[in-house]
Amino acid sequence: IEGRLRRRPVPWWHGRRDELLALAAEGTPRYAYDPGTVRARARQLAAVEAVDRRFYAIKANPHPEILRLLVEEGFGLECVSAGELAHVFEALPGLDPARVLFTPSFAPVDEYAAAFGRGVTVTLDNVEALERWPEVFRGRALWLRVDLGRGEGHHEKVRTGGPASKFGLQVDRVEAFLAAARALDVRVTGLHAHLGSGVDTPDHWREVCDELGGIAERIGSIDTIDIGGGLPIPYREDDEPFDLEAWSVGLAEVKAAYPAYRLAIEPGRFLVAEAGVLLLAVTQVVEKGGIRRVGADAGINALMRPALYDAWHDIHNLSRPDGETVAFDVVGPICESSDVFGRQRPLPRDTAPGDVLLVADAGAYGMAMANTYNLRALPAETLLPETGE
Ligand code: LLP
Repeated sequence: IEGRLRRRPVPWWHGRRDELLALAAEGTPRYAYDPGTVRARARQLAAVEAVDRRFYAIKANPHPEILRLLVEEGFGLECVSAGELAHVFEALPGLDPARVLFTPSFAPVDEYAAAFGRGVTVTLDNVEALERWPEVFRGRALWLRVDLGRGEGHHEKVRTGGPASKFGLQVDRVEAFLAAARALDVRVTGLHAHLGSGVDTPDHWREVCDELGGIAERIGSIDTIDIGGGLPIPYREDDEPFDLEAWSVGLAEVKAAYPAYRLAIEPGRFLVAEAGVLLLAVTQVVEKGGIRRVGADAGINALMRPALYDAWHDIHNLSRPDGETVAFDVVGPICESSDVFGRQRPLPRDTAPGDVLLVADAGAYGMAMANTYNLRALPAETLLPETGE
């Protein structure tokens, strides 16, 4: 029974078919976002008492209204480029720079200089930058990103730790970093780690927090420990929702061992993935060599995740909610063999050109990674009105 109760919740779009069909009639491909779902996820995280500071990793979905909503819910914003920094200050006039975190990787040095100039918190993960550009870092306070020696996550391509990864300072280099920092009068006030994305074991963050706590004790000047993002969502019907309860109990326990530090997180996916769907129109239905294929008016140009990570997204025919289903491969119009949303998916037997397909859980790393390959247009985006639920 427990397993059943913990199955993933009914998606928001289930009762809103007519609204989505009307929207699709205005043009596809189109991402549609439900603000209520973002708010609900934000409040779930806000209820976790062990966490003192919450940043939203805007790379998952930088839609201005979503940023506004999350800032309203008390979130800060984590940015990774000069473009993302410019975007958040433009989208949110008057945004307090103290609520913005800059966590780039191998960025050009002028982006660090600009970030310090804006007064945001800057994270650095190597000694070489300090040595090479003393004038940029001298006298600053910054956070140090470390590599805890391993990566985690839903796919090899989203793991951000270990010797093969470009991210983070190896822990055995921390002393060297501190020496270089001291020489420039740089204060290291935060300690950061993000080991990957879509990590489904709640204990992961507890361990990261524990390890960072140990390193922070050695550094001495740390006030904040940032344990990264990476919280998963249930993409598949039988995926269990992330066990937030176990997560928060674990964090509370470690935090009790390190009461001197504020605990920060920076999730992206967890807040926005389930809030977004991609609406597509069926272009052609073809059978070849015993395989039925449904073609859609966008493919990996609109949503790269299946091609890049073999990621699963549920696919539904919104135009034909009932009726007998048969297996189809769902493909896009892009000239690449990887242009497949899903293979052997149950869709109505009479699926036909003009039908509207819905690709679920596409609110994170969907539009954010969309491109114009084959000179296809970017998808449109619509933020739906917030319902009162
Ligand atoms: N913090 C840092 C330093 C990150 O690099 C990331 C994501 C996050 C936070 C937020 O991670 P999240 O909570 O969203 O897992 N395109 C891939 C995911 C790449 C994640 C990159 N970094 C995907 O679609 O699965």
